[in-house]
Amino acid sequence: MLIQLVSSALIWAYKTSLIFFVLPILLLLVWRLWRFTIRPWLRPLEPKEIPYWIPCHTVGFLRSSDKLIEHGLNLTGNNHEVFAVQTVDRKLYIVTDPQDVSAVFRDTASLGFDGYLNELLISFGFTKAAIKKIWHKPSDDDEKMISETINPERMNFIHLAEDIFKRQLLLGEKMDRIRDDIMGTLDQSLHWRQLDFCTKSYHAKGRQISLYSLCRFTMVEAATRSLFGSHLHNIDPDVVDHMLSFGDHAWQVIFRLPTFLNLDVIAPRKKLMDALRVFVQLPESQRSEQAWAIKNVLDASDSFDIDFESRACVLLLMFWAANANEHNIAFWVISHLLYDENLLELVKRETEAAWSNDTLDINYLSANCPHLEAAFNEALRCYGGAVISRKVLQKTVIGNKELQPGHAIIMPSRQLHMNESAWGYDARQFDHTRFLKNRSLDRHPAFRPFGGGVTYCPGRVLAKQQVYGLVAILFRRFDMKLAMGNNGIKPQFPGLDDTTPRLGIADPAKGMDVMVDMWEK
Ligand code: HEM
Ligand SMILES: *[C@@H]1O[C@H](CO)[C@@H](O)[C@H](O)[C@H]1NC(C)=O
Ligand SMILES: *[C@@H]1O[C@H](CO)[C@@H](O)[C@H](O)[C@H]1NC(C)=O
Ligand SMILES: *[C@@H]1O[C@H](CO)[C@@H](O)[C@H](O)[C@H]1NC(C)=O
Ligand SMILES: *[C@@H]1O[C@H](CO)[C@@H](O)[C@H](O)[C@H]1NC(C)=O
Repeated sequence: MLIQLVSSALIWAYKTSLIFFVLPILLLLVWRLWRFTIRPWLRPLEPKEIPYWIPCHTVGFLRSSDKLIEHGLNLTGNNHEVFAVQTVDRKLYIVTDPQDVSAVFRDTASLGFDGYLNELLISFGFTKAAIKKIWHKPSDDDEKMISETINPERMNFIHLAEDIFKRQLLLGEKMDRIRDDIMGTLDQSLHWRQLDFCTKSYHAKGRQISLYSLCRFTMVEAATRSLFGSHLHNIDPDVVDHMLSFGDHAWQVIFRLPTFLNLDVIAPRKKLMDALRVFVQLPESQRSEQAWAIKNVLDASDSFDIDFESRACVLLLMFWAANANEHNIAFWVISHLLYDENLLELVKRETEAAWSNDTLDINYLSANCPHLEAAFNEALRCYGGAVISRKVLQKTVIGNKELQPGHAIIMPSRQLHMNESAWGYDARQFDHTRFLKNRSLDRHPAFRPFGGGVTYCPGRVLAKQQVYGLVAILFRRFDMKLAMGNNGIKPQFPGLDDTTPRLGIADPAKGMDVMVDMWEK
């Protein structure tokens, strides 16, 4: 029937000498019918694919991943089965069912993080020579790589570097040190006279500040000093600005946008790499303030004979991981506190109790602030949009769908966080009380702000403490009130930015901010 149709159309086209025009269109129609109607029907195990004429979904994905995913969900009748999106060079399997996400995290044999990480490192500028070395599994002959102090478990360089960072962030002495450094820097940054950088205007005994600017600078400043001491600041005094600017545009690296587009990420990345390149070549005696993890990753780089360029890349990746989300989550938590006076009073009472003699007891703070905790978790749920990726290593089945090797899996955690069967009809509303009513809700499989499986964020405890510390210091030192609009009206709560692909906690929509009237106590 189809063949008849095609041949009679061809004859007709030939007769009307329109063949050169009609043939390609006809072939395209047939191909599309085959690809998106007949083939899926013949192969029910294959994830349904969002139909396309030319495979340039990457562009759509970059412009609005939320829209593209909604489109895919519509296509599959919103039953949350795995579906696929074709990009230029591969398929992305989109996984949105909480149970399927858990299955992906469990199946480390067929679904790997390494392949994805490898691509990430290449995007970050890793040299070809170093790429070979970092996946080399040390054998008996590689004495330097398996020394007792550095690598008794004989991991390859990348797994070793991940492991070093995990050990840095495990509860204990190493973590205390980095946490205390962060608190010390926050304590220093948050003095009345030092807040000019975020001040928009001055008024009777007080000032009006931009909350967004306040959170951005203080959080990144603190994390930078906790990792590198004063060394990076000494090499480049603007390193915090460069990291902020890099973070704003890092998605361009992650999604491998071609550099001829004159990307915004290029300049800050160059400045950070310039500083890190100098840093990694300093003799160890001049890196005395570096964190334990930085020292150990550099020692391991020596043993594995990794070149300086690639060492700087590894550090950039770690430096960025520590900074990618903190300022945004702090912004959302504090914004909600300022918009909800009752909640703010409760939180103030909780954090005030963690102070004694002008020192902050951070362990007390993290264990005894149920309202702050609920607001923090709810902010992670509402604004956490990490897109977690895996690479399919061998054929595997996830939720009745067969995934083919070579392609990528994408798990947009926002889909889970807005799932109405998990969170109720008001899933789109910020309501911290849901976490108060059910204290184990933070273990729900549809709550994945920190990812899961082998790459479950090792910084999650530090992240929480850094935000709580900022809140505790701010509200102890200053009276802070939401600034009203021109005619005394409460300004609208900022929406979130959906113009750039999200890698973690969402930014506020461009141009949106929260202005705060502030007085010294
Ligand atoms: C609210 C703040 C944070 C959020 C929402 C967050 C989220 C995440 C997520 C979703 C992943 C998994 C990525 C994947 O599987 O593809 C991850 C990994 C990671 N995070 Fe965080 N993170 C935060 C704070 C931090 C902090 C403060 C640090 C370090 C000081 C950190 C260090 C890391 C590292 C090193 C990894 C990679 C782990 C690995 O490769 O095994 N994160 N984070
Ligand atoms: C998905 O379906 C809903 C309801 O039918 C519709 O309003 C929405 O525009 C669709 N979204 C996309 C991206 O196609
Ligand atoms: C509080 O500080 C004062 C003066 O610095 C000191 O004498 C006192 O012992 C401190 N108390 C505690 C509980 O640390
Ligand atoms: C929510 O998750 C369940 C699986 O737990 C899934 O069946 C359902 O379709 C999802 N619903 C929405 C609206 O995301
Ligand atoms: C609380 O949350 C957990 C998921 O973490 C869920 O299994 C449980 O049913 C919830 N309890 C109530 C009373 O809603």
